[in-house]
Amino acid sequence: DATIQTQMIIFGGTGDLTHRKLVPALFQLHLHGFLPKDFSLLSIGRRPKTHGEYHQDLLDATKKFSTKAIDDQEFLDFAKAISYFRLDFDNPEDYLRLKQTLEDRTSSDPERSFLFYLAVSPDYFSPIVENLESSGIRALPSLWQRLVIEKPFGQDLDSATLLNESIARVFPEKDIYRIDHYVAKEMIQNINMLRFQNTIFGPVWNRHHIDNVQITVLEKEGVGTRGGYYDHTGALRDMVQNHLLQLLAITAMEPPVSLDADDVRNEKVKVFEALRPFGPEDLSHRLILGQYSGYTQEDKVSEDSTTETLVATKIFIDNERWQGVPFYLLTGKAMKNKTAQITIEFRKSNPYTLDLDNQPNILEIKIQPDEGITLHLNVKKPGVMDQMTMAEMDYCQSCLYLFNSPDSYEKLLLDAMNGDSTLFTRWDELQLTWKYVDSIQSTVNGDRNTLLKPYNVGSFGPEELDRFVDSGASTWWFQNRIY
Ligand code: BG6
Repeated sequence: DATIQTQMIIFGGTGDLTHRKLVPALFQLHLHGFLPKDFSLLSIGRRPKTHGEYHQDLLDATKKFSTKAIDDQEFLDFAKAISYFRLDFDNPEDYLRLKQTLEDRTSSDPERSFLFYLAVSPDYFSPIVENLESSGIRALPSLWQRLVIEKPFGQDLDSATLLNESIARVFPEKDIYRIDHYVAKEMIQNINMLRFQNTIFGPVWNRHHIDNVQITVLEKEGVGTRGGYYDHTGALRDMVQNHLLQLLAITAMEPPVSLDADDVRNEKVKVFEALRPFGPEDLSHRLILGQYSGYTQEDKVSEDSTTETLVATKIFIDNERWQGVPFYLLTGKAMKNKTAQITIEFRKSNPYTLDLDNQPNILEIKIQPDEGITLHLNVKKPGVMDQMTMAEMDYCQSCLYLFNSPDSYEKLLLDAMNGDSTLFTRWDELQLTWKYVDSIQSTVNGDRNTLLKPYNVGSFGPEELDRFVDSGASTWWFQNRIY
């Protein structure tokens, strides 16, 4: 069939991400009619497999990992657009075969497009991209060719720069789509609406009214089967460098000129440029590293590992809007619950008319598992006495909308196909976030052993965390809800 116009090519077709996220997301896009009608997927793996076997694997995985009921026949109809292709990532001959297959499968029309998705170990990012060039695949006439890359994008600024150089030789920046799936979570996309479409928040979104901001992303699971990757990565690189700093930038950025990709990303970059660097004087009060008990016995984890599975860090953004306002970031594995939220603590009002002890207003943006927004207000406690109590104004998105929000990957795949890179990370964002995380890593080096605090699986982390928030009410607000 030589009519295919939108050809997606996944490298890593037998891997975890493809099974768990990519194919279930593509199937949902298909069901909702969002895929181009001449869409087709060529899924590349190293193992020999027939198309039939591969379709069955994908069906099993989609049923296992989707939150929605899956109809076998509907899935198998969709799977007709999916073919399996065996290729050895390092073998140039295989890429010549791939080129031929792409030519045979797609229309000869230069309007065809290629979406390459690298869902492989980062060691293969450069070799695959280089082979796309040397095999002549990049030179195939097409309307567009885009490259989607999973994290981790480097281990530090130097390795990320090398990786970027090798990719940028083959793809221009505008065609490189670096994934950060947190940015595509429903409630994170909602922050722009909340901040910029409601007049009540604009005037107070600054140091004059906000005392501190808390960004917490906690997981219940430990490292599971990913010990090999995780042990030389750690929570700072795995979560802070990308997801948490992205959430910080979206919360803190100036209103962009428009919601176009570069306008939004320009504003995020300005936040990253204003991050106060981390130095030795900050070790005692701006950082906690933790490791859960039993981590060193996990599969593929070194017995004397000093890798952190939890990070708390206090960040300052040195600009006019945020000078002096601490942003507390916390992420950890093997915690009591899975929960992610952004909490804004406003300054306490000065109760000059009433001699009552009021509480700060709190705005919670709940990312997961529940999605919603809660605003905590001081109100009068009903009764004849003048007493105050706290009331919650609650927008429970998960309760109101009885369908599950689309998975991040549905949004990201659709945007990549439509050429919208707003939710993808630009190279200058990565450079600045790596630079920041490197400043923490190099300060910590050598002191890791003494800095690392143990905590129990299923707990709220090391006890040092209780004293970490030192502004406003000096409390981690998410605890009130969960613990
Ligand atoms: C990934 C990290 O980027 O995000 C994992 O590599 C982490 O370690 C995961 O578990 C968390 O994502 P989510 O969407 O499940 O909160």
